[in-house]
Amino acid sequence: MNCSDLRGLSPGPRQIASGVFWAGVNDCVKDLFESLWPIPDGVSYNAYVVVGSEGAAVIDGVDEHLAYEYVEKVREIVGDLGRVKYLVVNHLEPDHHASTPRLLDLARNASVLVSSVGAKIIGSLYRVPEDRIVEVKDGERVDLGGRTLRFVYTPWLHWPETMMTYVEEEGVLFSCDAFGSFGALVRGIFDDEVDLEYYLEEAKRYFSNIVLKYSRNVLEAIDKIEKLGLEIRVLAPSHGPVYRKHVDKVVSLYRDLSQPKLCARATVVYGSMYGRTEEVARAVAETLERSGASVNLVDAARTHPSYSLRLIVESAAVVFVFPTYDASVFPPVREVMNYLYVKQAGRGRLAAILNTFSWGPSAREAVDVLSRAGFQVVEPVVTTKSMLSPEDRKKIEELAERVSSELRRFGSCA
Ligand SMILES: Cc1cc2nc3c(=O)[nH]c(=O)nc-3n(C[C@H](O)[C@H](O)[C@H](O)COP(=O)(O)O)c2cc1C
Ligand SMILES: [Fe+2]
Ligand SMILES: [Fe+2]
Repeated sequence: MNCSDLRGLSPGPRQIASGVFWAGVNDCVKDLFESLWPIPDGVSYNAYVVVGSEGAAVIDGVDEHLAYEYVEKVREIVGDLGRVKYLVVNHLEPDHHASTPRLLDLARNASVLVSSVGAKIIGSLYRVPEDRIVEVKDGERVDLGGRTLRFVYTPWLHWPETMMTYVEEEGVLFSCDAFGSFGALVRGIFDDEVDLEYYLEEAKRYFSNIVLKYSRNVLEAIDKIEKLGLEIRVLAPSHGPVYRKHVDKVVSLYRDLSQPKLCARATVVYGSMYGRTEEVARAVAETLERSGASVNLVDAARTHPSYSLRLIVESAAVVFVFPTYDASVFPPVREVMNYLYVKQAGRGRLAAILNTFSWGPSAREAVDVLSRAGFQVVEPVVTTKSMLSPEDRKKIEELAERVSSELRRFGSCA
């Protein structure tokens, strides 16, 4: 059964630790997350509820069209919504808080706990009465009666206001977008109930689409959690599975992608209208493969940038092969470059550039955008006419060999 077969249904509330519950929903309606990233298998918005002897706290929420389902789950857990004392806002993006005005209308005693930056910007996103907003400091604790919430500021994951919330007695960390994954939760909610390989693959795509630009902040957050000695028995992100058996797997995955820890892999991103440039791309890919590198060949016109980014985050080198089109870089290849610039994805990675043309090259535009994206551009940049001369073939071969030799600095890929 996949997400659309569920017609938006998701698992009922589940206990994830003593006094801690999952109250999330699946979104099987949206085609594009953030109107950008394909989610053919949907996405989950994981909200949670922590229940103590003196009241309950709701941790984050869901997108607007699923607010009803979420509120009913919270009600099922707490019995009476009047028992909700707090709504914790780890991150203000509407996939987590478009439901907040509705919850606050019904949970009349609930205050909104938000970071200092969050307190400044919440009003720019939602209508929340000011007297219900309470700023919590980094490290501050809130006692629910036998269940203590501790707030840990982890800014810029991937907005400025982000924080995580930790349940001290149970070792549950609500990490919001960090450690998240695309994919609705159709066979269960825990890492040991679902097809974990699938979600870890989708975590790579989620990381590269949403979090990549903030890699340094991911590393800082992981360091901070370790330095604080917060033992994570249950890692509860806001998208994808709840980790109780394989916490280390998803934390290492995010750490490795953020560093970035890379092996000798190259992604060749090409576009070609009439086949000449594709021939160049294939020749480069073959040379790289012969040298022992692991190679992905991506036809940018037929691959959504979401998937190209996913391959690029695991690549030490990206080779761009494109024709000139109306005096510019062929648009589908240019689109990938634009995303790489927006995400500042070049850090720690090499770029090589091969441009075919008939009357004017467009390689300079590529050098410019890729340098601004943080790539180290491998020299020389190769431009050739559409009809390749023997010298052109030599230049192409030489650049591919140069990339191969640069890749030898990286270990071979497992
Ligand atoms: C619609 C279109 C626009 C083009 N614009 C340019 C251009 O502005 N400058 C140029 O030198 N070549 C231009 N070309 C030629 C191609 O860049 C060149 O022939 C290239 O090698 C074609 O590669 P392909 O066979 O992989 O499609 C254009 C070709 C097409 C079809
Ligand atoms: Fe977000
Ligand atoms: Fe999110």
